[in-house]
Amino acid sequence: MKTVLGVKPYKGARDFYPKEMALHKWIFATMTAVVEQFGYEQYNGPMLETFEVYAAKSGEELVNEQLYHFIDRGGRKVVIRPEMTPTLARMVAGRIQEIPKPIRWYSTPNLWRYERPQRGRLREHWQLNVDHLGTDSLSAEVEILDIAVSVMRALGADESMFVIYINNRHLMNDFLVYELQLTSDQIAGAARIIDKHLKINQQEFDRELQEVGLNSEQIDGLNKFLTSKIDDLKNCFSSGESESEFESKSKGLKQLQDLFARLEERGLTPYCELNLGVMRGLDYYTGTVFEIFDKHPDNNRALFGGGRYDELISLFQKTSLSGVGFGAGDVTLTHFLETHSLIPDIDPVTEVLVCFADQEVRQYGHDIANSLRKESLKVEVYLPEEDKLKKQLKYANQKNIPYVLVVGTDEMNENVVQLKDMKTSQQKKCTLQEVVSLIS
Ligand code: HAM
Repeated sequence: MKTVLGVKPYKGARDFYPKEMALHKWIFATMTAVVEQFGYEQYNGPMLETFEVYAAKSGEELVNEQLYHFIDRGGRKVVIRPEMTPTLARMVAGRIQEIPKPIRWYSTPNLWRYERPQRGRLREHWQLNVDHLGTDSLSAEVEILDIAVSVMRALGADESMFVIYINNRHLMNDFLVYELQLTSDQIAGAARIIDKHLKINQQEFDRELQEVGLNSEQIDGLNKFLTSKIDDLKNCFSSGESESEFESKSKGLKQLQDLFARLEERGLTPYCELNLGVMRGLDYYTGTVFEIFDKHPDNNRALFGGGRYDELISLFQKTSLSGVGFGAGDVTLTHFLETHSLIPDIDPVTEVLVCFADQEVRQYGHDIANSLRKESLKVEVYLPEEDKLKKQLKYANQKNIPYVLVVGTDEMNENVVQLKDMKTSQQKKCTLQEVVSLIS
């Protein structure tokens, strides 16, 4: 019969065969174990939201170019979630009085964005989202960055492999308004171009800035500013005001300096760097913004992205509540782990396979399997009755099953099994109790 459907999934969507699923499970189990150590609780939300949930604050590119949306049978414009933060904000707003604050929540949603599939970018991806709401001070940023570093370390990474680039939206705004004296249209254009700064070359960068109306003096000023280090940031402002006047005006500069001081105290500075090119495409960020990058040149897309958002909750109800958090994507993280050889050998699900030397003892084999399952072991029974023992053992090898129990009439009569260790190929006669104590 001619096949017509083909075996590929929808472009950019994900099939997880068991091997890939096992890795995915390991990545998320490792990350969520860390997050729970910091006291974060898991939440979840719906796959579909109304369009308005994203329209106001998720940023032009995401809303206009990347949303999967459709009209439902009742005529409503519905979106498949491209990110989790608006859902989180809607949920928190919905029960704002009753939820104890500060709120520490995490989630592991799959998300859809209509992007060109390429290395590090697919149309479907999973994120770990970690958010802290209800702490206005920078201690929330420090905790969130501490968690991000701890997650990376739990995955086996160290500071030679990744870096957290940190910036502040207030600072950028202050510089663009007070120092470069841009108009609000120019600011929006420049912010979009600065956000691409790590991905395009210098010529393209300068040309695009020119196109949104910056003159060469402003472009030079911006280029100089973007390469500043934390200690010389103040010197980038030369608008005629005294340093102290400027500092009091620049909330962002103060926040950044305080944040770096606190990161130093917490021992996190080896992982963190100021990077004034990190703007973040999402409109809801207000203060601190950050992204984690792989230091290896093969992987140039962010592993994590996040920041502080002060006004998102108040889109949904009257009370305002500030939040800070991040999303860490599984696609880029998997590339990171592959590049740095951090993917561990993942144990197969099955710990024991019951095989048959003769078929008359099938029920004995099933009874043994059930007894072992009661001892919390994961046990398969080999089912095809026509297969010889050799083929059964080959299957155990292919699936990397560490132990095989061979049963036949003699074993049944003596109420024992032959325990075969598949790594050493050694085999010995054991009672069930001995099997349990040997392998569990
Ligand atoms: P985001 O920067 O859009 O932030 O995404 C976070 C991470 O998700 C990225 O750094 C990247 O690893 C991964 N990612 C995003 N899009 C794709 C894609 N098309 N394919 C593969 N991976 C992707 C947010 O989504 C914010 N809502 C995060 C957040 C939580 N901010 C505060 N709390």
